[in-house]
Amino acid sequence: MAHTFNTKYPSIDDLKIKAQKRMPRFAFEYLDGGCNEDVNLIRNTSELREVQLKPNYLRSHQGSSLKTSLFGIEYAAPFGIAPVGLQGLMWPNAPEILAKAAFQHNIPFILSTVTTSSIERVSELTEGKAWFQLYHPAESSLRDDIIKRAEAAECPVLVILCDVPTFGFRPRDIRNGLAMPPKMSIQNVLQVLGKPAWALNTLRYGQPNFETLKPYMPKGLDLKQLGKFMDQTFSGRLNAERIKPIRDMWKGKLVIKGVASHEDAEEAIRLGLDGIIVSNHGGRQLDAGESTIRPLESIAQKYGDQITVMMDSGIRSGPDVARSLASGAEFTFMGRSFMYGVGALGKQGGDHTISLLKAELQQVMEQLCCEKVSDFPNHLIK
Ligand SMILES: Cc1cc2nc3c(=O)[nH]c(=O)nc-3n(C[C@H](O)[C@H](O)[C@H](O)COP(=O)(O)O)c2cc1C
Repeated sequence: MAHTFNTKYPSIDDLKIKAQKRMPRFAFEYLDGGCNEDVNLIRNTSELREVQLKPNYLRSHQGSSLKTSLFGIEYAAPFGIAPVGLQGLMWPNAPEILAKAAFQHNIPFILSTVTTSSIERVSELTEGKAWFQLYHPAESSLRDDIIKRAEAAECPVLVILCDVPTFGFRPRDIRNGLAMPPKMSIQNVLQVLGKPAWALNTLRYGQPNFETLKPYMPKGLDLKQLGKFMDQTFSGRLNAERIKPIRDMWKGKLVIKGVASHEDAEEAIRLGLDGIIVSNHGGRQLDAGESTIRPLESIAQKYGDQITVMMDSGIRSGPDVARSLASGAEFTFMGRSFMYGVGALGKQGGDHTISLLKAELQQVMEQLCCEKVSDFPNHLIK
């Protein structure tokens, strides 16, 4: 299938501006914000953009291919869609829009435990190709049940998360009463009234729910009780004791997301994991932390032959993907970029954003004379 992008929105920034116009403020701020003073959020992109690449104009060139093999699967491009919670609140039906687009483009889509579509539904839409991100349940019986569902849904890769030992401190969400779960205050309702496309789509698709978690939630919870349920049900702090049983149980590939140090990378290898995503949750957890591009190069250099090293946080364009791959990532993920696309263009947003990123990345590869994704590191200017 030929995919093209809408020429009115030729950058992620264009999508972000349009999304802001169409989404209620509380939803846009939940998506767009970092934590505390947004220092880490801003650094992610600005420091990534300090990476510079060298072209080889006079070398013979047989054409460039975005195809990338990851965990024995061939994907059409070296980027995928990161897990994002509450997607249906930001744009109605967003997880299904993105899962379908990812499937059609043959790139990975990672479903979050706390998003608004279920493992089973997304597996059906993607013919078992979607990955699943597990928030760590406090009870081992719940953990085992969710893992069995991911296995039955044929998820090839399970992603566990180590960078949410506490909820990030996010002033906008606190102000908006959106510190998980969402609160429909009068202020928020007024914001919705000014966003007709969002409101109409919400009527069409209904109030978003935590579909994967529904079977475990007592019926008729009000919002306050829901918050308590989430707090009691999940316990984000990971350690060897919690990871070992998951490794024993999960027969597919197991990836840990949120690694930002050599110590954690070494622990992941020791525990027999298959991959790490060098990530700081898009700057939403530790404002005083490093950008992800900083530790990436040395982690990839030191551990890249023992474990698959991937990266997310701050990537907003094809050149950004190229910078990350040149710095040693084997694969990249983006969270906000795709959600801006859906906020801006609704149903077309997934296809548009993937097509745009592919076109940008293809241009960079041809410009550099980089034929294969694995050749990117040869273009890094040290
Ligand atoms: C609104 C929002 C919600 C998120 N929810 C989750 C989540 O439920 N699980 C998870 O592993 N990561 C979550 N993340 C982090 C993303 O998976 C990813 O690490 C981050 O978005 C990458 O940074 P980027 O947005 O700059 O691309 C979330 C990020 C955003 C922006």
